[in-house]
Amino acid sequence: MTQKVKKIALLTGGGDCPGLNSAIRAVVQTAVANHIQVVGIPDGFKGLLENKFVALDLDNTTGIFSKGGTILGSSNIDTPFRVPVVKGGKKSYEDRSDEVIEHLKAERIDALIVVGGDGTQSIAHGFAQRGVNVVGIPKTIDNDLNGTEFTIGFFTAVGTAVEALDKLHTTAESHHRIMVVEVMGRNAGWIALFAGLGGDADAILIPEIPFDLPKLAAHLNDLYHARKRYSIVVVAEGAKPVGGDVTVARIIEDSPEKVRLGGIGHRVAEQLEKLTGRDCRAIVLGYLLRGGTPDGFDRILASRLGVAAVKAVVEGKFDTMTAYKNDSVELVPLETGAGKNRFVNPDVPFLKEARARGTHFGDL
Ligand code: F6P
Repeated sequence: MTQKVKKIALLTGGGDCPGLNSAIRAVVQTAVANHIQVVGIPDGFKGLLENKFVALDLDNTTGIFSKGGTILGSSNIDTPFRVPVVKGGKKSYEDRSDEVIEHLKAERIDALIVVGGDGTQSIAHGFAQRGVNVVGIPKTIDNDLNGTEFTIGFFTAVGTAVEALDKLHTTAESHHRIMVVEVMGRNAGWIALFAGLGGDADAILIPEIPFDLPKLAAHLNDLYHARKRYSIVVVAEGAKPVGGDVTVARIIEDSPEKVRLGGIGHRVAEQLEKLTGRDCRAIVLGYLLRGGTPDGFDRILASRLGVAAVKAVVEGKFDTMTAYKNDSVELVPLETGAGKNRFVNPDVPFLKEARARGTHFGDL
């Protein structure tokens, strides 16, 4: 891009997470410092399709830095490339991306910054391929976005889960129970792994390592007889048994990502109760992990990624995504994150070290 950027549009898409407002604030601060006007789009790509824009400035973004959620709103079911329409009682889908491009032109938007996970970045990349100047910022509590080591929201979610685990230790101990704690994460085990290690779980079940419950039950009973009369088992919502499949909570037909996972925690607790002959309880942390104020790391990460996104816009580096790697922020092709995930590698030293201190992963 050779001409000077005068106006940026900003949206947050997908499931919300702590740190989105910190990113919004950082984008506005950096844009203003570069004499660029910013407009926010309410409710992700839904708002863009509905031609909605709200002015963002230093005044109306003051005080949002530490606030959870997103002041812009978000949607994880809407894509302008596949809009549901019902005609004569029959449902079909229409590509209305042309309208979005018209709205951006009419509003004189020079560039679009999209804060989102793999689904949102995939839509963003679709618009980049159609000539829109797009830069992505990675966020999701799941930390499963390809191309970046960490995403905005992940560490806050881990902190919330660790705090919950600390509380569950005491009640599990009093009642000599096995407490099964289900956490979000879709098909990746990042939240379960980090929360389980930080919260001193006896076992962590992640999608990347299919579990064998008789083996886990035997391990927990050995522990019980040896020295510890209660146990904490963290289960990722996408965890599955050897040779089995994930537990689906619901299917949302209109959503680009139709499957919502959930329910594995209660299944595991029921089966462990039978296999161990001990009292088991399950709890699903669910949306608690998406809520609350961002921790220090997420605020700083969001700020750095926000600054880098505006810099990319100023330098005309479009169809890119800001990414965090080895304590630096860099730009990767947007395609790297678009619809692509990053999973836990079961062979990394991190996981081996956990095994070395006795953490069970439901497999051996
Ligand atoms: O992507 C974040 C996430 O929280 C997943 O961990 C979870 O499976 C999903 O969103 C839940 O989505 P929804 O808000 O549609 O229930």
